[in-house]
Amino acid sequence: MSRKTVLFLFFLICFTIAASEALAGVKLPDPKKGGGEGVFSLLEKRASGTRGDFPAGEISRDELSVILWAASGLNRGGKGWTVPMAGGKPPYVKIYAVTPDGAFLYDWKEHSLSEVTGENVLSEITGDGFAQKAPCVLVFVSDTGDLGNMSSFNAGDTLAYIASGAMTQNVYLAADALGISGRYMISMKTDGVRQALKLQSGDNPLCVMPLGKR
Ligand SMILES: Cc1cc2nc3c(=O)[nH]c(=O)nc-3n(C[C@H](O)[C@H](O)[C@H](O)COP(=O)(O)O)c2cc1C
Repeated sequence: MSRKTVLFLFFLICFTIAASEALAGVKLPDPKKGGGEGVFSLLEKRASGTRGDFPAGEISRDELSVILWAASGLNRGGKGWTVPMAGGKPPYVKIYAVTPDGAFLYDWKEHSLSEVTGENVLSEITGDGFAQKAPCVLVFVSDTGDLGNMSSFNAGDTLAYIASGAMTQNVYLAADALGISGRYMISMKTDGVRQALKLQSGDNPLCVMPLGKR
């Protein structure tokens, strides 16, 4: 093999690896955790965005980064999350960020998003007009396949619902600190969510949370 061919193959392999890494996920900016309002003052005014005039302002990537980190990000090195998990297991609730640009799965390990679809599927996941117009709707989905012996407590996804309660409360507080409103919603188009987010058969949609900048 000539030297030219070897060089060509080397660059081809490097390019292929770089391209596949770029497709593997979109790294989120590091969450900016400092400053902002304290937790007690945020608790004093925690409220859901009202359905009638739910804000529709855009949410920046920096803001989404903080919100997703608050929902289930790592906070103590490689193991330990912003929310308590049964048996200290890794988060068994997946979060999808659904925007007009597509739906993206949050990866807490990498603090990154990976695209599930590039289509606007907001009207497939919720029948509520104000939520369909939101710049971002978080969808919480149980992912309890790896719970091992903890799954005996898991009738009806109990553990996943408990976890999603903690996660969404963190979202309420982090979002409000950024001037963003959220609303916990159990009503959603469950079959639409399954299809739009290409869920596996064991995955169970738990709730949705539209977000909008005030
Ligand atoms: C389990 C649960 C389910 C909810 N489901 C919906 C829903 O499907 N649609 C909706 O608009 N709000 C929903 N909400 C929001 C409540 O209506 C809201 O939290 C309540 O009116 C109290 O308002 P606050 O959050 O501002 O205190 C839900 C809240 C909880 C806790």
